[in-house]
Amino acid sequence: MQQGAFLFGASTSAHQVEGDNRNNDWWEFEKTLPPSMRSGKATDHFHRYEEDFLLAKQLSHTAQRISLEWSRIEPTQGRFSRDAIEHYRKVLGTIRGHGMKTFVTLHHFTNPLWFSRKGGWLAGDAPEYFASYARCAAAHLGDLVDFWITFNEPVVYAGHAYGTGDWPPGKKNSLLMVRVVYLIAQAHNAAYRVLHHMPLSAPVGIAKHVVANLPPMQRFLFNHAFFSLTKNSHDFIGVNYYFSHNVTGDVKSDMGWTVSPEGLTSALLEMKRYGKPMYVTENGIADEKDAHRAQFIRSHIRAIEQAQKQGADVRGYLHWSLIDNFEWAYGFAPRFGLVAVNYETMKRTIRPSAYVYKAIIDQALRKSSHFSL
Ligand code: BGC
Repeated sequence: MQQGAFLFGASTSAHQVEGDNRNNDWWEFEKTLPPSMRSGKATDHFHRYEEDFLLAKQLSHTAQRISLEWSRIEPTQGRFSRDAIEHYRKVLGTIRGHGMKTFVTLHHFTNPLWFSRKGGWLAGDAPEYFASYARCAAAHLGDLVDFWITFNEPVVYAGHAYGTGDWPPGKKNSLLMVRVVYLIAQAHNAAYRVLHHMPLSAPVGIAKHVVANLPPMQRFLFNHAFFSLTKNSHDFIGVNYYFSHNVTGDVKSDMGWTVSPEGLTSALLEMKRYGKPMYVTENGIADEKDAHRAQFIRSHIRAIEQAQKQGADVRGYLHWSLIDNFEWAYGFAPRFGLVAVNYETMKRTIRPSAYVYKAIIDQALRKSSHFSL
C-alpha cells in the first residue's frame, strides 16, 4: 500500500444515520421496542448527506468513513437496486468532490430481511451471499472507494446478536456465537478475494474493536481470534478504540466508559504484530454537553503519536462520529457527534470540540504532508 498524508476525518454507519431503513433485521427488531427506541428517520442523512459532508469539509476533514446499507442495495436476494447504487454513487461522489478519501464498510451490524430469514450468519451459505453483494458493490461503486472495510466489529456483532441477545436476532447461545464469528471470517475471506479481483481494487481490511489491557485468554478471543481465521486477507487494520479493561479514572463518558487514551497506544501496539498499516477507524465519546470531547480528541491523537514513536504504522484517525446518531440498543440518548443533531427539526449545529479538532488538522496539514502535531 502506498503511503500518503496522514488522514483525519470521521465515521458514520448507514442504519445509525440514514433513516427509514425498513428492509433490514434491525428495523424488524425495533418494532418490539418502545417508539422512542426505534431508528425511524434517524438523522435523515439519506436526504441530507450533502449538508453533512459539506460540514466535514468545512471542518478540514480529509477522509470520511461510511457504510453501505446491504438491504438497500440488495432488497431481495440476487436483485440489486439501481436506485440504491445511484444514491451511493452520489454520496461517495460528494465526499470525493470535497477532496476527501472514502472508507466504505460493507457490513455495519445490519442484515437484509431476506438474509436473516435464511438463517442470517448461521446459514452455511452466508459467506457466499455476502461475497455476491461485495461483487456488486465493487463493480458499481469500486471507482469511488479508497478503502474497503468488509465488516465492522465482527466479534462485537456476534456477541450482542448471539451472546447477550440485545441485538437482532436476540439469541443467547455461545455456541451459535462462535459459529457466527467463524462464518463471518469466511465471508471476509471470500469478499477479500472478490474485491481484489476487481480492476480498481482498493485496500481491504476490517474495523476491529480493540479493548486494551485484557487478560491473555480474553485478549486472544476478543482481539485476535478473528485474525487467526482470516490470515493473509488484510491489507490494513482498522482499529476501533473506545476503552480499556479495568482502568480507573475521573473522566467518564455519558455511557459510563472511563476515558483512557493510553489504552489507544496499547491497542495500536498490540495490533502492530500483524505488520500492516493501521487506521483508527473509530474513536469517540458520548458527551452531550461537549465538556470532554476536545480534550478526548487531543489526548487520543497524542496517544497515536506515542504508538508511532514505538513503531506502529498508523496512517489515519477517523473520529466517531461526524454527527449524533442512533446508538443501537441505547436509542438516541448518547451523543457522539462532532455535529449535534436536533431530532425534531433535523438542524445540524457544529459542537465547539469540532473546531478544536479542525485546528489540530489544520496545524498538522501545515506542518507536513505526514502526521506530526
Ligand atoms: C460501533 C458504532 C457505535 C459506537 C459507539 C462502535 O462499537 O461500531 O456503531 O455507535 O461503537 O458505541
